This record gives sequence, structure tokens and C-alpha cells, in this order.
Amino acid sequence: MKFLTTPSYFVQMTVTWTSGYDIKEAVPFVLWGLKGQVQKQSPAGTLTFKRNSMCGSPARTVGWRDPGFIHTSFLKDLWPNFAYTYQLGHLLSNGTSVLSKRYSFKSSPYPGQDSLQRVIIFGDMGKAERDGSNEYNNYQPGSLNTTDRLIEDLSNIDIVLHIGDISYANGYISQWDQFTAQVEPIASRVPYMLGSGNHERDWPDSGSFYENIQVGSVV
Ligand SMILES: [Fe+2]
Repeated sequence: MKFLTTPSYFVQMTVTWTSGYDIKEAVPFVLWGLKGQVQKQSPAGTLTFKRNSMCGSPARTVGWRDPGFIHTSFLKDLWPNFAYTYQLGHLLSNGTSVLSKRYSFKSSPYPGQDSLQRVIIFGDMGKAERDGSNEYNNYQPGSLNTTDRLIEDLSNIDIVLHIGDISYANGYISQWDQFTAQVEPIASRVPYMLGSGNHERDWPDSGSFYENIQVGSVV
């Protein structure tokens, strides 16, 4: 007997990174495979956003910084519970490639399979500078304690859910790069899943989750 169901279950991993390469300059890809075995290449997309995509000041004014380009690749048909390595790549127009250092992750179990999954869930983290420097509208020094503890315990973590109030960039776009640099040791090893908090979407009348309704103290 044959059963067809939809959607099909399979194990995959999404890899996202940023670079300075527009699609006209280089083609992004991920070089990946089972640890120690032949690697294959998967293509990635290239996207960005512009100043006029921002709702208003400060993201459109003093907080604006060109974000470069955002690349996403889907690594499909993974063997469940296997160790994989991967490198981010760009195929340049002169035919040569540039590659990142090698990262690794363990694929998830097959959906529905009995397993122990150790999940970290938190919000309200932000980002900070270890050297004590600071910048305008920057205010989450305790975030270093959070990422330091997660990195120490990373071998005991299967997935991280950061459920909102992510960077507290609040319209200062360079702070997103600082945030992603701070979480990279975690997010490059285990799935780092993001939700939207009020600090990611609180521009009045722009589809804010809270619109203009007073729902209590939101910090
Ligand atoms: Fe918050």
C-alpha cells in the first residue's frame, strides 16, 4: 500500500549570512556535506532593503546604514542526527571563489522521531560591546552574560528560540550587525529561530502588533 501525504516530511537547514556582494558581482552558495565526506554546493539567494523601505526616523535618517546583501540557502534532504560541515561561498565574476571558514551543525531528528531536544527560549536580549565602548541609543550590557553562558553550554543545546526584542536596534541599523556578530558563535552551530517583539515592529499605524491599543506595560 502506498501513502502520499502533503506536506512531505524531511530534514533541512536554512543558512543566512550577509556580504558586500550584490548578485551582479558574485553568486552566493553554501559548500556543505556530511562531516569528513564529499561536499556539495547549494545556491543561495541575494536580497537587500533600501532606506525608503524604513518607516521613518531614525531608521531613514541618522540610523540608516546600507545593510549590504543578505544571502539565504536551503540545505535539503539531510540525514537525521548527523554531523554536517558547511562553508559560505561566493563565485566571483572572474571564475574564482571565496570561502568562509568551516562551520558545523548537527541535523535535527526526523519529524516525529523519539528524541530529547534541549530548547533555550528567551527574549529581550539586545547586544553590547565587550570593550566598554558605547554608542547612541545603546542599552543592553547584560546581553553579553546571556551569549557567554549560551556559548559555554552550546554542546547541551539543540535549538534557540529568541522570541522578540532581539537587538533593540530601534532604528539604528548598524546595531543589527553588532547583534549578529555577537550571536554568530551560537547561530552558526544550532538553529536560531527569531520571533518579532514590539521593538522590531512598533512604528505607529504601520501594522504594529499593538496598533494604538494600550495593552499594558511593554518594555
Ligand atoms: Fe523588551
